[in-house]
Amino acid sequence: MVRLENVGKRYGGGVEVLRDVTATLEPGGFYFLTGASGAGKTTLLKIVHLAERPSRGTVTLFGTNIATADRTAQSALRRRIGMVFQDFRLIEHLSVRDNIALPLRIAGAPDREVRDNVPELLGWLGLSGKGDLYPAALSGGEQQRVAIARAIVRRPDLLLADEPTGSVDDGLATLLVQVFEQINRLGTTVLIATHDVAFAGRFAYRRLHLEAGALAPVAAAAAP
Ligand SMILES: Nc1ncnc2c1ncn2[C@@H]1O[C@H](COP(=O)(O)OP(=O)(O)O)[C@@H](O)[C@H]1O
Ligand SMILES: [Mg+2]
Repeated sequence: MVRLENVGKRYGGGVEVLRDVTATLEPGGFYFLTGASGAGKTTLLKIVHLAERPSRGTVTLFGTNIATADRTAQSALRRRIGMVFQDFRLIEHLSVRDNIALPLRIAGAPDREVRDNVPELLGWLGLSGKGDLYPAALSGGEQQRVAIARAIVRRPDLLLADEPTGSVDDGLATLLVQVFEQINRLGTTVLIATHDVAFAGRFAYRRLHLEAGALAPVAAAAAP
């Protein structure tokens, strides 16, 4: 699904913020990407989402070496990925329902698919009754759930989520992980970045743990 080999990243002429990252995400797997603030989690997600290029190393996405992919091929790869951005990136002038439906409409999905999928997702995420509201009328946690719904509405092959439990309380964070588990059972490979190592440790999923840009064993104290 995703193969990283000796991936390094430096921004501009700066120091390497990712160093020798080698990891494989298996199809259908469920993974946490943990590490303190500044460890390189967002950078790694951006590289997998083709928003940043690695400075060195090899990234293979769905069997394609991204260095060999032209713009068209990169767009095709990106369409197979759902991304939950840390800052949500909702469209302010679209309702909750239309924000969630946007990836379906861009893909030219029939209206029937929108009518079937969007209410189901609203229900999963505890947003029933909020479909006609605009993002400005929602709390941070609600906006985050809309961002998650939009990222999964097309049942992507790979879901990347950057701190998706960052602006919600503990109970809601657990609900969100259940939503990710549900989409994972439907076949989507899931990678969730969180600085909350202890939270990730409550679940039995594999962890990629970054320390100052390099993969490292999870500290014993933080292990489940
Ligand atoms: N666009 C950028 N330009 C320069 N440095 C950056 C940029 N984005 C992130 N960094 C630096 O890269 C390091 C890793 O950041 P980031 O990937 O955001 O970590 P995390 O998501 O784990 O907090 C940090 O030192 C950060 O300051
Ligand atoms: Mg980050």
